[in-house]
Order: sequence, then structure tokens, then C-alpha cells
Amino acid sequence: MPQFNETELTAAVIRSFEDTPDPRAKFLLQELVKSLHDYVRKTDLTFEEWEVAIDFLTRTGQKCTPIRQEFILLSDVLGVSMLVDAVNHREREGATETTVLGPFYVGEHKVMPHGADISSNLTGERMFVQSRVTDLKGKPLASVPVDVWHADDDGFYDSQKPTYATQGPSSRARFITDADGRFFFRTILPCSYPIPTDGPVGEMILQTRRHPMRPAHVHFLVDAPGHQPLITHVFIEGDKYLDSDVVFGAKDELVAKIEKRTDPTMPDGKPAMKPGDGNAPKPMMAKATEDA
Ligand code: BEZ
Ligand code: FE
Repeated sequence: MPQFNETELTAAVIRSFEDTPDPRAKFLLQELVKSLHDYVRKTDLTFEEWEVAIDFLTRTGQKCTPIRQEFILLSDVLGVSMLVDAVNHREREGATETTVLGPFYVGEHKVMPHGADISSNLTGERMFVQSRVTDLKGKPLASVPVDVWHADDDGFYDSQKPTYATQGPSSRARFITDADGRFFFRTILPCSYPIPTDGPVGEMILQTRRHPMRPAHVHFLVDAPGHQPLITHVFIEGDKYLDSDVVFGAKDELVAKIEKRTDPTMPDGKPAMKPGDGNAPKPMMAKATEDA
């Protein structure tokens, strides 16, 4: 029966994957064993620490549902998502910068007409968004699906709310670019928000005295046929968390200045306010005083 010392054990486990038919899977598994064994040796990991790690990973898995992805969140806060993104985008050749997908690319992205308000009945400062999809030479790309999603004024995604099951998607939609590569929509200005802190990943962030905040942003996933998919955000200039994004996803090129507009018409030619009788509801107390 073979007996292994610390180093021989690592070599034996690496050898045990020798007959893996897929060469890439073999390479990934052998490198993983090397790194994990190095970690255990370097840290002199105790049984208690190993049990804490197993329990943490168990709870991370248990927190996952079809609309909650705690493992993506873990990858995000450890910087692994941005590292995978970086090593896969070494040659960007002038293309738009990429960033994390995040755990909230879930649920339904219904195709909506250009100009639609995707925020349903959410409160918040109104925002008009227009954009254009082109190839690297600036040629517009038509009929391209663009998925957009963002948090509400309180910092929550639709899928995080109990009403999601009955009310469906909100602040989440798909647009198809027109012949000029353009798409545009209405929504509310999102705000910075904490990643979910009611699970093991959030607990770790708080226990290690990191802040859980992401700077305000809108997500975009552009899936043009014949091109690499573009997963990105547009961040809102001036946000106080731009320099300390908990998932390390903010990039200078992705920060946009939001223009404050008071024009009576929106960029798509529609009135900024709908015509009507101006009969807005009054606050309860004011109404009672007037009636008296
Ligand atoms: C998000 O932007 O939706 C997100 C990204 C990473 C972790 C948590 C949230
Ligand atoms: Fe987000």
C-alpha cells in the first residue's frame, strides 16, 4: 500500500487524474490540486479552519435557488469574476470595456419597444437612456438583442423582492437595435446598493470589515451575432463607491455623466410630462386642512 508524505501526496493526487480524456479538464484539475495543496501547506490549515470552510461552502450552496446565485456572489467579492474577465479579454482592440455579470441576470428579459419605461411603477428620478451598438470600425449593428437590468431606488433588483413571483420583471428588459444600431428607453436613476448580506458571502464581507456597496450602475448584455458578447455596466459619475466597488468591477471608461435636462420634450420627441388636467393627489394632511 503506498504511503505518502506531504509532497508525495500532492504528486499522487495529480497523477490520479493522468487518464482524464479531456486534456483541458485534466490540466484544470491538476492545477487546482496543486494550488489547493499549496494553500493547505502554506497556511498549516487546522481541522477547525477546514471545517469552517466546508460549512461556509455548504451554506453558500444551500443559499442558491433558481433566482439567487450565492456562488457567483462569492466569486465576485473574491475578485475571481473580474480576473476571469481580465484573462479572457486581454486583446480588446478598442472595444467597450467589460465587467462582472453579477448574480442578478435572472428572470425574464421581455422584448420592449424603444422608448418603453422599464421601471414599472417605481419611484425615483426619471432617466432617459440612449445608446448605439457598432462594430470596431463604427459600423452600426442592427437587430442585436440588448438586455438591460438595474436596481431600484432602494437598491434592490426585482428578483430580490417577494413580489417578483406575482408581479414579474421590473427594471429589466430586452431591446432590439434598429437599423442604425440604436436603442433607447426610460427608467429611473439607480442608486448605489449593498450586495445581499443575508447569506454566507455577505456575512463574510461584514465580519471582515469590508463594506458591501456597489456604485450605482445599469447592466448591459449585448449579444451581436458574429461578435463576442459584451457584458458591461454604465456607472453613474460622482458615486461615492466608484473607488471601492465591493466586486472590483468599476472602470473609468464605463463611468457616464448623467445630464440633468429640463426640456419639455425627451430626446425621442415625446413630451417630458404627459398632458392632463394637473389634478395630482394631495398629501392626506393638506387635503384635510383644505376641506375644513
Ligand atoms: C450586480 O451588479 O448586480 C452585482 C454584481 C456582483 C455582485 C452583486 C451584485
Ligand atoms: Fe448590479
